[in-house]
Amino acid sequence: MIQTQVSVRAATEGDAEAVRTFLAGLSASAQYQRFFTGLGSVSPSLVRELVAVRPHQNVVLALCGTDVIGHAMASTNRSGAVELGVVVSEDHRHKGLATRLLGELLNRAVLAGADRLQLDVLGDNALVLDWIRRRLPDTEFEREGNTLTGYASLAVAATTAA
Ligand SMILES: CC(C)(COP(=O)(O)OP(=O)(O)OC[C@H]1O[C@@H](n2cnc3c(N)ncnc32)[C@H](O)[C@@H]1OP(=O)(O)O)[C@@H](O)C(=O)NCCC(=O)NCCS
Repeated sequence: MIQTQVSVRAATEGDAEAVRTFLAGLSASAQYQRFFTGLGSVSPSLVRELVAVRPHQNVVLALCGTDVIGHAMASTNRSGAVELGVVVSEDHRHKGLATRLLGELLNRAVLAGADRLQLDVLGDNALVLDWIRRRLPDTEFEREGNTLTGYASLAVAATTAA
């Protein structure tokens, strides 16, 4: 069997169509866990935002050949905390891809001087909440409706995700 190598790199505007195809191929539950809403036909404006690399926003992709199989972004918010979002294709999970994508983003964020992490997770997303509690046991959570927001030290996060 020929296995295509998985690569991780920064997103560019030229990745928009591959990212749109990736998002459209996610299950409704994966879309909801990542974006807290279904995506319907996936709007061009959302895709543009998800491939936009700016001074306060980093985006990395996992690719298998030319197919996008994972997407992660880190945005520095007004309080200076780095907000993370990640989603991996259902066919490529539990192989360390999300860990690899987030490790890449966190190292860049630490190098850029950020020191705090903010994670918004649905209250019923047990896999991710357990993951955060294992990797970042000092995370403090606040609940608002169905969403939990975790706050953690970015120095610790960068070390444990690497
Ligand atoms: C959360 C998600 C990104 C993880 O992607 P992944 O590539 O499978 O993650 P990894 O393989 O790097 O594993 C991450 C951790 O989850 C654990 N994990 C992954 N899949 C698991 C499973 N099916 N059961 C139990 N644990 C699991 C891994 O053991 C690892 O924990 P560890 O670091 O303590 O060993 C993926 O499940 C997903 O896309 N979910 C929907 C979107 C979402 O919930 N995003 C998070 C909110 S922004």
